[in-house]
Amino acid sequence: MTNPAVCIKSLVMSEANFTNQTIWTGDNLPIMRGMNTGCIDLIYLDPPFNSNTNYAAPIGSQAAGAEFKDTWTLQDVDIAWLDLIEAKHPRLNKVIDAALTSSDKSYLIYMAVRLLEMKRLLKRTGSIYLHCDPTMSHWLKLLLDCIFGKKQFRNEIVWCYHGPGSPKMRQFNRKHDIIFWYSVGETWTFNHDEIRVPYKDPNQRPRKAFDTGNAFNQNEIEKLRKRGKIPETWWQYRVAVRSKKERVGYPTQKPLALLHRIILACSNSGGVVFDPFCGCATTLVAADGLSRRWVGIDISPTAVRLVRERLRDGSTEGEYKDQWRNVIARNDIPERTDIGVILPYNHKDNKRSLFALQEGVCNGCSENYQFKDFHIDHIIDRKSGGTDHLSNLQLLCGHCNSVKGDRGMEYLIAKLAA
Ligand SMILES: C[S@@+](CC[C@H](N)C(=O)[O-])C[C@H]1O[C@@H](n2cnc3c(N)ncnc32)[C@H](O)[C@@H]1O
Ligand SMILES: [Zn+2]
Repeated sequence: MTNPAVCIKSLVMSEANFTNQTIWTGDNLPIMRGMNTGCIDLIYLDPPFNSNTNYAAPIGSQAAGAEFKDTWTLQDVDIAWLDLIEAKHPRLNKVIDAALTSSDKSYLIYMAVRLLEMKRLLKRTGSIYLHCDPTMSHWLKLLLDCIFGKKQFRNEIVWCYHGPGSPKMRQFNRKHDIIFWYSVGETWTFNHDEIRVPYKDPNQRPRKAFDTGNAFNQNEIEKLRKRGKIPETWWQYRVAVRSKKERVGYPTQKPLALLHRIILACSNSGGVVFDPFCGCATTLVAADGLSRRWVGIDISPTAVRLVRERLRDGSTEGEYKDQWRNVIARNDIPERTDIGVILPYNHKDNKRSLFALQEGVCNGCSENYQFKDFHIDHIIDRKSGGTDHLSNLQLLCGHCNSVKGDRGMEYLIAKLAA
């Protein structure tokens, strides 16, 4: 059975179809589906971790009312996504299939469809940083290997911190997060001079000096030493809740310094930074302060309110105070402008193309029908960000079409199997 599902082939760069400094409130999947291909330089995402916790900000804090669910059941995910993965990404499907519990499985489906969209949004020279913790990091790395390719794995960064939490008497205290960095292609931005740190150990010499043995020039070593070194893959930053200056009370707020390093390393001034789970907008604040363009999405309306408050209230980040004036808050699904002229979905030309593509076979029951007996159907429905573009359309026979209605393909497949 051919399934012309969403086409993720093209990685060509295009113009963004949104304005700099936009924050969307809503589920990031349909919104990302409406964003143009190849218009982002750097993505940082800090999604829910599948930690079996419901996070809520304390009443009275700046973030009061912000909460998000981090527990997963198969009802949380649209099984049509799994259908899409099965049809188009068999290796990814194998990884998801290997999940040990149905909660893990639903979490991985949820993440996989979003990571596929993120890859489409990135420029060829772009990078993605996925922030997670040991709850699901091993699974997420497999997803990233499948989607971006093992060769595109750049670093696993371990962010170590001290923080509140009850000490454990039978095991070590878990006090680190993991951040995976993958590049899209063979060349990527890495501004090593922007992120150098001083040599701590006075006996540690710059590598170049080692390489040249005893014949090194003292001045050159001094120069190199002053330049500092490229940091290791373990980073130590204070958690945001411990910083009076930064904390806004958002349950999972990340420190600005962490984002500064990532953004400085992997994007250039004027580049576009995107955070699809932007929370209280730490990434966006950091990007703004470093003269990057930025865009963010969060499902919680509290996040947008918080962003506005951070804008108004210079006390949280004095140096960024005035930069929030132009924030554009949206909750619509953007219309892609990079997929050429889109015919009305039920245009005869679409029907002809699909008939040829499916070789006269119904995408539901796999039976042959005559041209006149087919109906054009949206694979991803419009309210979920599915476009009228050919890549999102399929032909169904009259029977399959009426059984499916406007439900997902999984419903039709289950019905047909029964
Ligand atoms: C771990 S927090 C991000 C914290 C952020 N890095 C910061 O420093 O504030 C995860 C965020 O993802 C948001 N979220 C959860 N599911 C989402 C979805 N489907 N689309 C967009 N945002 C979502 C939650 O509301 C929450 O703010
Ligand atoms: Zn049929």
